[in-house]
Amino acid sequence: MKTQIVKVPLMGQGNSDDDEALGRWAMPNDLSTWEVSSTSSPVLDPLRSAAARLRNTDIPVAFPTETVYGLGADATRSAAVRGIYTAKGRPSDNPLIVHVCDLDMLRGLLPPSPNPSQDSIPTIYHPLIARFWPGPLTILLPLPSPSPLAPEVTAGLSTFGVRMPASALARTLIRLANAPLAAPSANASTRPSPTAAAHVRDDLDGRIELVVDGGSCAVGVESTVVDGLCSPPAVLRPGGVSLEELRRCPGWEGVEKGYRDRAEVGKEAPRAPGMKYKHYSPRARVVLYEASSGEGGVAKGDLEGVGEGKTVAVIRTGRWSERGCVEGYGVVLKPLAGGAEEGMELDIKQGELTDEAGKQAAKFLDVDLVGDVKGVAHGLFAALRELDRLGADVIFVEGVDDGHDIAAAVMNRLRKAASDIRA
Ligand code: TXA
Ligand code: MG
Repeated sequence: MKTQIVKVPLMGQGNSDDDEALGRWAMPNDLSTWEVSSTSSPVLDPLRSAAARLRNTDIPVAFPTETVYGLGADATRSAAVRGIYTAKGRPSDNPLIVHVCDLDMLRGLLPPSPNPSQDSIPTIYHPLIARFWPGPLTILLPLPSPSPLAPEVTAGLSTFGVRMPASALARTLIRLANAPLAAPSANASTRPSPTAAAHVRDDLDGRIELVVDGGSCAVGVESTVVDGLCSPPAVLRPGGVSLEELRRCPGWEGVEKGYRDRAEVGKEAPRAPGMKYKHYSPRARVVLYEASSGEGGVAKGDLEGVGEGKTVAVIRTGRWSERGCVEGYGVVLKPLAGGAEEGMELDIKQGELTDEAGKQAAKFLDVDLVGDVKGVAHGLFAALRELDRLGADVIFVEGVDDGHDIAAAVMNRLRKAASDIRA
């Protein structure tokens, strides 16, 4: 099987024909229903052909969302959903998120409310839907029996996760396929999620036929998964919508953190790689400095065993300086020959690490993600992948303070990717 990447021109960039063809491409005012025009256009034609594959074949199609690239299949057909698990090598007990293009499509997955004046979508979610959809938020709903969803989507659970992506390209594809799409992140299992079409090809080449290329993903980390069916409601996975933003919604003031990652940090933290929480992992060893440690940069002791012939990489997010970020060593940098992989605008430099005598101690790679935390989220997975591609043996990451905003999602992913944590 050959994997083809098909570029779809960016939408909403002033080409009024395409904007028109897509209807309300940006944030729709009304989430209930959404139709796509029947005209032919450079945006719609490739999406129509991708949608036809989703309807007629059992090979999943990769497509961009605002969070990460998804690997989509018609969520109502078992054979199509099984195709996702096969392509990803994903354990079949991990449920998939269902993606809808509008609320009518979601209501089609729920039993009608016994009281016709009441919405079949549980009231607890109404403020979240009004505030965050379309966008990076996944809600859990009771799985009706019978359900139009293929049983493979929910992996035996009594709930299903659903979201309406902000990406107009994703919503258009779902509308054209005329079916809800089950879509996990389009990486091979255990690898960092893909935020550019090239990442999907790197992982799934030969296992799928089509990647719809819509450029790099704006958010860069996955959606926040929330459970409003329990009391108090809980965040099961931190993501593009923060806890503070959720707390501002009626009924969600007391939302709890229903995931664990900090408890794994510190003295009891498993130090060896390959522990059960390992995920989002590049091939290189990842050493994470929590925001409270490693003020000046990488501690000299952490470089033990890293010598000549090895490649040391650093991802900087704020306080670490470009030249002084490895204690006791000098850093000499030049622009990266050949640049970063297509589709990603990363600020990477290469060079060498020199010891006190000025002798080369190791090759060196520097990724500058310094800026606001949204920028860190946007570039994080791409940076981990790019450093792998460039042959890094070890990646030292400067953590961010996870007290606010999307930072919680960034640190959650980094703690899972890290084989060593400096707390
Ligand atoms: O941003 C995203 O959510 C991306 C894009 C493609 O939409 N998708 C994504 O899917 O991250 P995936 O499969 O990589 O992660 C889905 C997460 C998993 O942690 C899964 O266990 C959880 O959501 N999940 C899905 N359905 C669930 C359910 N019914 N109950 C609890 N957790 C669920
Ligand atoms: Mg995933």
